[in-house]
Amino acid sequence: MSGRTLTFRIFRYDPQQAGDKPQMVDYQLQETPGMTVFIALNHLREEQDPSLQFDFVCRAGICGSCAMVINGFPTLACRTLTAKYPDGLITLMPLPGFELIGDLSVNTGKFMRELAERLKLWLHPKPDQQDIHHLEAPMDPEEAARLYELERCVECGVCVSACATKQMRDTFVGAVGMMKIARFELDSRDARSAEDFYHVIGNQDGVFGCMTLLGCQDNCPKDLPHMQQIAYLRRKMASTLL
Ligand code: SF4
Ligand code: FES
Repeated sequence: MSGRTLTFRIFRYDPQQAGDKPQMVDYQLQETPGMTVFIALNHLREEQDPSLQFDFVCRAGICGSCAMVINGFPTLACRTLTAKYPDGLITLMPLPGFELIGDLSVNTGKFMRELAERLKLWLHPKPDQQDIHHLEAPMDPEEAARLYELERCVECGVCVSACATKQMRDTFVGAVGMMKIARFELDSRDARSAEDFYHVIGNQDGVFGCMTLLGCQDNCPKDLPHMQQIAYLRRKMASTLL
């Protein structure tokens, strides 16, 4: 399909500029083989409009910076081929649910930092592991593999934008928050008990607020097992009430 002329319909708005109004602007670009939305955006910025705002760092699906809504679905621009869209019209919007920096750029970093502080998303070592001279015990390889699986989250924010519960209730921690809690709950080095985690996510803003709409799991670019982990946490939290 290379050689086509693509139309990019892009959300433009700079909240820093007084008087600016949100609008959709069309850009035309010649498609090249293997073109991703990220490559196309770079061409547009370099060749047509240097004021176009969007984020990227790695170009390889690792940093999570380039997430945006492409033809209605939140996903990573650097992992989305333009060939996926047969009619050649590609609509780009910023991720909803995050502070807008400008155009397609949103402040996911601020959201993730606040989430980490609110849910205390760091290892709370057991007392005997707090001495830095204490030799660390090797981790069971199976546990390490399970932890690694959850550590694959790139904090792109796609699951937050794809979650209707989160869009309706801003205080909901979202799949990314619960995946991170699941990661520490699994970690045998963490001193926190199921009761401690219950006080953080055993409520409507956490595991009991999820309506299992599956937007997170269906759109996560890392194919993380949100539903399995949320169901596990829910059972664990419910068992602390018995
Ligand atoms: S869980 Fe998936 S969709 Fe959500 S922030 Fe992590 S990588 Fe992105
Ligand atoms: S630029 Fe890093 S994930 Fe797309």
